[in-house]
Amino acid sequence: MSFKITDKVTWVGKIDWELRSFHGEELSTNKGSSYNSYLVRDEKTVLIDTVWAPFAEEFVEKLKKEIDLNEIDYIIAQHAEVDHSGALPLLLKEIPGTPVYCTNNGKKILKGQFHEDWNFVEVKTGDTLNIGESTLTFVEARMLHWPDNMMTYMSGENILFSNDAFGQHYASEKMYNDLVDQCELYQEAMKYYANILTPFSQLVTNKIKEVLSFNLPLNMIATAHGIIWRDNPAQIVEKYLEWADAYQENQITIVYDTMWNGTRKMAEAIAEGIRLVDGEVVVKLYNASHTDKNDVITELFKSKAMLFGSPTVNKGIINATGGLLEMISGIGFKNKKGASFGSYGWSGESTAIIQKKLEGSKIEIVQDGIKELWNPDKEAIERCIQFGKSFAEKL
Ligand code: FEO
Repeated sequence: MSFKITDKVTWVGKIDWELRSFHGEELSTNKGSSYNSYLVRDEKTVLIDTVWAPFAEEFVEKLKKEIDLNEIDYIIAQHAEVDHSGALPLLLKEIPGTPVYCTNNGKKILKGQFHEDWNFVEVKTGDTLNIGESTLTFVEARMLHWPDNMMTYMSGENILFSNDAFGQHYASEKMYNDLVDQCELYQEAMKYYANILTPFSQLVTNKIKEVLSFNLPLNMIATAHGIIWRDNPAQIVEKYLEWADAYQENQITIVYDTMWNGTRKMAEAIAEGIRLVDGEVVVKLYNASHTDKNDVITELFKSKAMLFGSPTVNKGIINATGGLLEMISGIGFKNKKGASFGSYGWSGESTAIIQKKLEGSKIEIVQDGIKELWNPDKEAIERCIQFGKSFAEKL
């Protein structure tokens, strides 16, 4: 499948309905994804990005049905990560010598990935490429989310080819934002931001302000993953500005692991205590071992506060909770509060370990953690309820 998004621009990418994980197993992609590649035909012909390596052959064959490959004047490699550059080796075997426009870092990474000395043309912010009626203007987007990312603005059609930014891992035959389920789209766009872009939020804000200062007319944002924003494309830009600004909703998320339900009972009692103080706040509980880790990260992204719990196991904590705490450390949430809890049998280190990890991730500790021996009895449950109440009162 390929389709025209304007008279001059044709989508020639790949919808990957099967994809369920990305970056190895780092990111779940429960709704698949797409690798969006765009063929731009003006007086010159330009290919913007390709697809992930396993689809390289299919991509090149499809492209041949769309155009004689020798008519491609320029390739723009906006990002060297292999989900977008994966078909370059095969394509450039067919049309060797075709200029590959990329950033300086893009050239380094493409060489590092493929060890080929292609005809690279390095570009930086503000550089332009005249292709006829339209001009392409390049905008570096360093660390959004790799050092090499860039975007390309096409005048006349007024399209921002944004690469990873504003994307979603969301497979759909309906490739426009106004044609898909709005709740699914919002959820996937937020999950993408929460898990991939949160660490770079200050750069997101700066880059958006920089691009907005150009005052360019914008008809579409053509991302490299998921749907194309054509109906009020500014809406996702506004959302990014909101999400990048220490985003939070009126939500508290409780994440725990449990061996024999002791820590689960504590989690539920803490939630009860919170609700007794604040009937408005949304309280959500997740067993870390049973829940998609990236969905939990998305819920934490939405939260103003988080509680983490684990029983003590071998003087430590259970691995699923430990994994999420490690993810939080890398993501670097801003302006969030937290506390720890956990059951134990003899040594009882888990609560202190979690608290230290939260502190290390710049989560403001509201109060010292609570630990309860073995299976919490009535008094222990009451202490947990009181713990939840005081936590909510101190927020
Ligand atoms: Fe979609 Fe950073 O690659």
